[in-house]
Amino acid sequence: MVNICCIGAGYVGGPSCAVIAYQCHDVKVTIVDLNQARIDAWNSDELPIYEPGLDEIVFARRGKNLFFTTDVDQAIIDADLIFVSVNTPTKKTGMGAGMAADLAYIERATRRIAEVATSSKVVIEKSTVPCRTAQSMRTILEANSNKNIRFDILSNPEFLAEGTAINDLTNPDRVLIGCLQTPEGFAAQQKLVDIYTRWIPKEKVITMNLWSSELSKLAANALLAQRISSINALSAICEATGADVDEVAYACGTDSRIGPKFLKASVGFGGSCFQKDILNLVYLSEQLHLPEVAAYWKSVVTMNEYQKMRFTHRIVRTLFNTVTHKRIALLGFAFKKDTGDTRESAAITLCSYLIQERANVAIYDPKVSAAQIKMDLTEPGVGTNEATVEKHIQVCKTAYEACADAAAIVICTEWDEFKMHQLDYQKVFDSMQKPAFIFDGRLILDAPKLREIGFRVETIGKSI
Ligand code: NAI
Repeated sequence: MVNICCIGAGYVGGPSCAVIAYQCHDVKVTIVDLNQARIDAWNSDELPIYEPGLDEIVFARRGKNLFFTTDVDQAIIDADLIFVSVNTPTKKTGMGAGMAADLAYIERATRRIAEVATSSKVVIEKSTVPCRTAQSMRTILEANSNKNIRFDILSNPEFLAEGTAINDLTNPDRVLIGCLQTPEGFAAQQKLVDIYTRWIPKEKVITMNLWSSELSKLAANALLAQRISSINALSAICEATGADVDEVAYACGTDSRIGPKFLKASVGFGGSCFQKDILNLVYLSEQLHLPEVAAYWKSVVTMNEYQKMRFTHRIVRTLFNTVTHKRIALLGFAFKKDTGDTRESAAITLCSYLIQERANVAIYDPKVSAAQIKMDLTEPGVGTNEATVEKHIQVCKTAYEACADAAAIVICTEWDEFKMHQLDYQKVFDSMQKPAFIFDGRLILDAPKLREIGFRVETIGKSI
């Protein structure tokens, strides 16, 4: 039986290794984490992350060939293959603060492997890391392991998107496996290829060198985010000219060279990856003395910040230049639909701007808890504090409760339950102050129908 250990039971480690266990019943998968509460939740009926289809997969294999534990050392000792799937956030202090990836978690996990391993291991970088991190991992492993054992390092970046993780893992566009171009490297790579090809067609499992694989992950995220910033930049031109950003996106997306995906204008991208990975690329470019390249990628993040600010200004301007003491219903707090993840969510920035304008913000999200919302809004750097959050934020249990008595609704997340056929907008309208405004930051509503009800509607990328 092949024994797999995954270090890091987060949004990536949990689903990706649960799917391996689900697809390969003869592979024992142990997912470990230092966070006891997270492991307890993985072992309970209420998993720590919301992801459509995840419950079924975990409940089907947990206790059979899928295990969750805080006993990191034992899992390392037992494993043949070890996925390192720990967080790699943007550094907050020191060299490269605000840009470089914080590799402290990677290093800690790598050192632990070196210290406790008693047999040879294939160590797999699953986390998104700067190009050439595998070299540092190899140096740490070789320097700290005095036993006669061998470590081979692979890069196997994860391309899943939250909200569709299970489908992405079951039917991926591709799986990438990078290795050192040596006989030992190829042999290690083959072990991982043999796992994935149990359910993924061979031609979708792409092999390449380590550094290409590491850089490809950063490149893919930068290219995806760049499309969003590009369409968002065009949305500003649409609002100023009378063009309609949905029509422009459709016209451009039907060109097969461009394609239709990731051309949806919005209040801005969020999530734990896009901004962090682009900044990582910017930092890498600077380190490589490529200032023009760094500036090019940096502009993708700048445009995203601009979009969030531009949308907030539009809200304030439309509400007669003041939102002070006005109740604003903010629908959606997660960074996208079908996830409870709020990391870098545009809603955080929007709320912070609105609180600074002394609005009273009533928030509703189907999957984000009040505690999480308050924690996000009081994080350092958000520009608010506990007292103002207590005073200006109300977390509601339904969309109707949030909208009651509000001067305006702001759609921040594209949850299906906010769409026209799901939420009774006549009922919402009747409960609001008049004139009743809706700001559609996700282009999910039917503006003409809302206008028939009596709403004043403002949509990203549309002037009317
Ligand atoms: P996460 O923060 O949800 O999970 C990371 C987990 O690692 C945490 O539970 C933490 O307690 C644990 N951990 C940290 N150091 C540890 C150690 N030394 N030993 C044991 N456990 C340890 O992070 P997430 O979102 O799963 O991301 C992980 C990596 O995957 C990051 O590099 C991220 O950029 C990348 N990624 C994330 C995607 C996403 O959609 N969230 C998609 C693709 C890649």
